Amino acid sequence: MKRQTIFIVAALLSAALTGFYTYEALKHKEFKYSDRLKQLAEEVNNANTTWKAGENIKWINADIAGVKAHLGALEGDNGENLPVSNAVKADLPTAFDARQQWGDKCTSLWEVRDQSNCGSCWAFGAVESLTDRHCIHLGQDIRLSAQNMLTCCATCGQGCNGGYPASAMSYYVKTGLVTGDLYNTTGWCQAYSFAPCAHHVDTPLYPACTGELPTPKCAKTCDSGSGQTYTVHKGSKAYSVGKTQEAIMTEIQTNGPVEAAFTVYEDFLNYKSGVYKHVTGKALGGHAIKIVGWGVENNTPYWIVVNSWNQTWGDNGTFKILRGKNECGIEAQVVTALPLN
Ligand SMILES: *[C@@H]1O[C@H](CO)[C@@H](O)[C@H](O)[C@H]1NC(C)=O
Ligand SMILES: *[C@@H]1O[C@H](CO)[C@@H](O)[C@H](O)[C@H]1NC(C)=O
Ligand SMILES: *[C@@H]1O[C@H](CO)[C@@H](O)[C@H](O)[C@H]1NC(C)=O
Ligand SMILES: *[C@@H]1O[C@H](CO)[C@@H](O)[C@H](O)[C@H]1NC(C)=O
Repeated sequence: MKRQTIFIVAALLSAALTGFYTYEALKHKEFKYSDRLKQLAEEVNNANTTWKAGENIKWINADIAGVKAHLGALEGDNGENLPVSNAVKADLPTAFDARQQWGDKCTSLWEVRDQSNCGSCWAFGAVESLTDRHCIHLGQDIRLSAQNMLTCCATCGQGCNGGYPASAMSYYVKTGLVTGDLYNTTGWCQAYSFAPCAHHVDTPLYPACTGELPTPKCAKTCDSGSGQTYTVHKGSKAYSVGKTQEAIMTEIQTNGPVEAAFTVYEDFLNYKSGVYKHVTGKALGGHAIKIVGWGVENNTPYWIVVNSWNQTWGDNGTFKILRGKNECGIEAQVVTALPLN
C-alpha cells in the first residue's frame, strides 16, 4: 500500500513536470519554418529513398511566404493553345546532357541564375532555355534578359506574383527579348534588378530578403551605362512538347533545353543530391525550370534540371528528378520555341 502511494505520487509529479516543461518550451520557442524543413529532411534521409536532403542556406530563417515567393508558375496555358510536337526519334541514348553536347561554344548552358524573392521562375525557365537555343541554333553565345520578360510581357500573368510559361514562349515569338543577365552584370541591355538574397541577417554571403518584391515597370531602354541599344531577338515558332518522356527527350536532343513546370512539395526545398521524388510534406505551388538532359542512376531514370535559386541551392544549383512517371507533373507542362534566323 505504501509503495503504491509513493508510485502514484511519483507518477503525478513527473506528469506535472513534463507538462510544465512542454508549456515552457512552447512559450519560449518561436516556431521557425526552417525547423519544419529540418524535420522533413530527416524523414527523407530515414526513408532510404533515391535522394539526399540537407540544409539549403537560402531557407534559413525563411517563413513559408518567403519560400512561396520563390515559386510562381501558374497552371494551364493561359489560352495560348500552342501546337504540340510529338516527334519521337528512334535510338534515343540512355543518357544525354546538353551541357556536354553544346557547352563549349554556349557557356550559358553552365549558368545558374537567381530569381531572388520574386515569383519570376516562369520568366527564368523561359529565357534560360531560349538563351541556350539562340546559341545552339545561331552560334551566338549571348544572354536573353529575364528582366525584360518579367517586366514587359503583359500577357504572361502577374509578374513577380507568377506567370505562364506558354505565354512567355509566345511573347518571344510575337515581341522578342533584349539581352540581359544576372543582377549587377553589365555588357548586356537589361540586367536583373533584384539582388540575390536570403532570409537571415547574419551572413555575409547574402543580403537579407525584404518581403515579396513588386514587379518593376517595363522599360523600353537599356540600363544606363550598359552602352547597349534596345534590340530584340525573336523566336520563329512557339510550341509545347508531347507528354511522354520520349517526345521530351527527342526535343532536347534535337533543339536544346526546354522549359517545364512542376509542383513543389516542401521536401524538395531540402534537395541536395540524387534523384528527387516526392516523399513527404505539403504542396507549395507551381515552379518553372529548365531541363537540359537525362540519365539513369542506380537503375532510376532521371531528368537533369537547372533551377533559378542560385548555385548555393541543391546540387550546385541543379537537381535530378524521376523521369518517365510524370513526377510532380514535370512531363505534362513542357514548352519551348525556336529562334528566328
Ligand atoms: C535501402 O535501399 C536499397 C536499394 O533499394 C536496398 O538495397 C537496401 O536494402 C535498403 N536499406 C534499408 C536499410 O532498407
Ligand atoms: C548567388 O549568391 C551569391 C551570394 O549572395 C552571389 O554572390 C551570387 O552572385 C549569386 N548568384 C547569382 C546567379 O545571382
Ligand atoms: C550592385 O551595384 C551597385 C552599383 O554599382 C552597388 O552599389 C551594389 O553594392 C551592388 N550590389 C551588390 C549586391 O553587389
Ligand atoms: C558548379 O558550377 C560551376 C559553374 O556554374 C562550375 O564552375 C563548378 O565546377 C561546379 N561545381 C561542381 C562541384 O560541380
